[in-house]
Amino acid sequence: MADFLPDSDFELYRTLIYNESGIHFSATNRSILESRLRERLRDKKMDSLKDYYSMITRDKEEMKVLLDSVTTNLTRFFRNQAHFDAVQHYVLPELLKVKGADRKLRFWSAGCSTGEEPYTIAILLKELLGPGWTFEVIASDISLKSLMVGKEGFYPEARIQGIPENYLSKYFEKRPNGYQVKDEIRNSIRFDYHNLKNDSGLRNLDVVFCRNVLIYFDEVAQKAAIERFWDAMAQKAFLFIGHSESLFGMNTRFEFVKTDWACFYKKWS
Ligand SMILES: C[S@@+](CC[C@H](N)C(=O)[O-])C[C@H]1O[C@@H](n2cnc3c(N)ncnc32)[C@H](O)[C@@H]1O
Repeated sequence: MADFLPDSDFELYRTLIYNESGIHFSATNRSILESRLRERLRDKKMDSLKDYYSMITRDKEEMKVLLDSVTTNLTRFFRNQAHFDAVQHYVLPELLKVKGADRKLRFWSAGCSTGEEPYTIAILLKELLGPGWTFEVIASDISLKSLMVGKEGFYPEARIQGIPENYLSKYFEKRPNGYQVKDEIRNSIRFDYHNLKNDSGLRNLDVVFCRNVLIYFDEVAQKAAIERFWDAMAQKAFLFIGHSESLFGMNTRFEFVKTDWACFYKKWS
């Protein structure tokens, strides 16, 4: 392995990937980068890391393929149920109080992977919002392969664990090899390619979910992404990050909220 990716190339590639996406490779996960680079070179029928490097600095599409290949897309429906309980019992009641005449809620699943998170959010909102309220869920990722799965909304049997039985029969259609999300849910989500290194252009969001994404960034990239979330959010809004992630020590403007259900952050300005 060491022969395939000498230190100088490792440095070159990890700097490029970091600058492009915020994803940080350390010595501990170096082998993941090595194996992804091997795959890309095999796919492109190339045998020189230097040639491939110069190719991706010119070819934006191949750069996207490489970035996609180094992402970790593990996710599941209703992942960390406590967050959704907090949305139901704390976040929604608070938002309904402050929204005034604007009766539309805007959620963003940033780093949505294959769609399980935004679909969970949409199901929950469909269930909980009263008449007269509407919602929109924006779902974004840098993994084009994952976004395609999300857009299609088809999940094999093994992936639907965690969906309560009543929601499964209400919002999914049984197909021979799995389950298809029904259009009433699918149409409430907008899947988009977005790299969290850049400004999304989104504004006025009520809730941002960015769970299990920042863990792959270093602190500088995390802080920058968090600052951009602040700008994308409404004056009163909520931010959920992964339960093993924290803004502790990062000196952000977000306030920590501890509830009976889960901990998260709020922008209350
Ligand atoms: C482990 S998944 C988390 C999925 C979901 N949020 C959850 O918690 O189940 C992490 C996702 O973050 C995405 N990601 C990593 N770096 C990103 C970046 N710079 N911009 C946008 N998405 C990114 C990956 O492609 C991957 O799909």
